[in-house]
Amino acid sequence: MKVLVVGSGGREHTLIWKLKQSKKVDNIFCAPGNGGISKIAKCVNIKADNIRALADFAARNKIHLTVVGPEAPLAAGIADEFTKRKLKVFAPDKSASQLESSKVFSKEFMRKYHIPTAAFKVFTTAAEAIGFCRTVEYPVVIKADGLAAGKGAVVVKNAEQATATIENMMVKKQFGSAGDTILVESFLQGQEISVMALTDGKTIVPLLASQDHKQAFDGDRGPNTGGMGAYCPTGFATDEIMTRINDYVLAPTLSGLNKEGITYKGVLYAGLMITPGGPKVLEYNCRFGDPETQVVLPLLRTDLYELMMAVVNRKLASIGQLSWRNDSAACVVMASKGYPGNYTTGVKIGGLPNKDDNNCVVFHAGTVYKNSQYMTSGGRVLGVVGLDKNLQLALNRAYRTVNKIKFEGARYRKDIGFRVLNLKRK
Ligand SMILES: Nc1ncnc2c1ncn2[C@@H]1O[C@H](COP(=O)(O)OP(=O)(O)O)[C@@H](O)[C@H]1O
Ligand SMILES: [Mg+2]
Repeated sequence: MKVLVVGSGGREHTLIWKLKQSKKVDNIFCAPGNGGISKIAKCVNIKADNIRALADFAARNKIHLTVVGPEAPLAAGIADEFTKRKLKVFAPDKSASQLESSKVFSKEFMRKYHIPTAAFKVFTTAAEAIGFCRTVEYPVVIKADGLAAGKGAVVVKNAEQATATIENMMVKKQFGSAGDTILVESFLQGQEISVMALTDGKTIVPLLASQDHKQAFDGDRGPNTGGMGAYCPTGFATDEIMTRINDYVLAPTLSGLNKEGITYKGVLYAGLMITPGGPKVLEYNCRFGDPETQVVLPLLRTDLYELMMAVVNRKLASIGQLSWRNDSAACVVMASKGYPGNYTTGVKIGGLPNKDDNNCVVFHAGTVYKNSQYMTSGGRVLGVVGLDKNLQLALNRAYRTVNKIKFEGARYRKDIGFRVLNLKRK
C-alpha cells in the first residue's frame, strides 16, 4: 500500500517511522518532509496547506491513505476535499476540526455536554473584556478564539496585564482575525497531561497518556515553545484518572459530537489539567501532538496502518485492545540558538548515530539533507527518544545520544521528566 503523510516536523517523522513498520505499507511519501524524513520516505515538494495539490498528488499516485499531521490543513478542510474526491484520509473534517480551530466553539461544546473545563466568558469587544477583567480574581487565562500557532493563550496576573493582552489580541490584532473574539477563563491548578485518542465517530480508544515540557528553560521557566521534551507513560495518569477521563471526557465528547451531527474520524487530543476536583479539559486538538507523538508511538505495538485504516473505514471496534510495549519513552528536543525567539539556521549537524536501534531513535524536526550533510533549518531541530524499563533509564539513553550530537548553538533542557521523577522521590 502507498501512504502519504502531510507535514514536516518530528511528529511526521515519527508517524512515518511507525507506519513503515507495518507489513502492509510498501511506499511512503511525505509532503513536504524534512532531512531526516527524506531517508525513510520520498519527499514531495508540496506545502502542507496546499490542499488541492495534495489531493491531486494522492489521486495521481493512487495513494491508499493520506495521514495529516498539522492543524492548519484540517481547519482549511483537507478531509472534506479528499473525501469529496473519494480519497481516503486520516483526518477530521472541517466541522469536526472546530474543536481545535475555535476555542469558543470547543468551550461552548463542553458547556453544553457537561464536559469538565474551566469556567469562562466570551467577548467580542475589547472594552467589555477589559471591564470584566476589573472584576475577576487573578490569575486568569486569556485566549484568542482562533488558531495562533500555540501563542494564543496567556496567563495574566493582574488587571494591567489583562488589559495589555486584550489590547494586543483585539485592537492591535497580534493574531489577525484569530483574536476578533476572545475568552477569559479561570486558572486551573494541577498537573497537565495529554491524552490522544483514536476515534472513528463510533468508538473512541485512548492511547497512553503523556506529558510534555513547554517552557524553554530548566525548571519549567522562560517563554513557551512548541515543546522541549516529553515522556510516556506518566505517573500522574493513574488507572483511576484514566477511567475518569474516559467516562467524563472522551465518551461524552464523542456522544456530543454525534448529537451535533459531526462524524469525527482521526485523533482527538485532550489537553487536561488533573485538578483536585478531577481531570478538566484545557483544550482539544484535532491531531497528534508534537512532541507527544514521539514518545507515544514508539511504545505502540499494534500496527498503525491497520489502526488508521480502521478509523477511516469506521471499523475501529474490530481492532480490540491495543498492544503496548511495557516500557517508558522519553524525548529530549534539541533546539537552535535563540529558539523560541529569532533563531539561527543553516548550521551543520554532527555526531548523529549511524543508525537507530530499538531503544534510541532520533526524530528530525527542523533539518535538511544537502551535499551528504544534515543542516539545521528550524527552531526545534531534533527529538532524541530513549526507551527503557523506566523513565530514568529512558532519559539516560536519550541524554547519552544528545551528548554526542553537536551543532553550533544547540540548546536542550537537562531536566526532562523532573515532575514525575520528583513524584517518585516523595
Ligand atoms: N484554564 C487554565 N488554567 C491553567 N493553565 C492553563 C489554562 N488554560 C491554558 N493553560 C496553560 O496554557 C497552555 C496553552 O493553552 P491551550 O488552551 O492549550 O492553548 P494553545 O495550545 O492553543 O496555545 C496550556 O498548555 C496550559 O499550560
Ligand atoms: Mg495547547
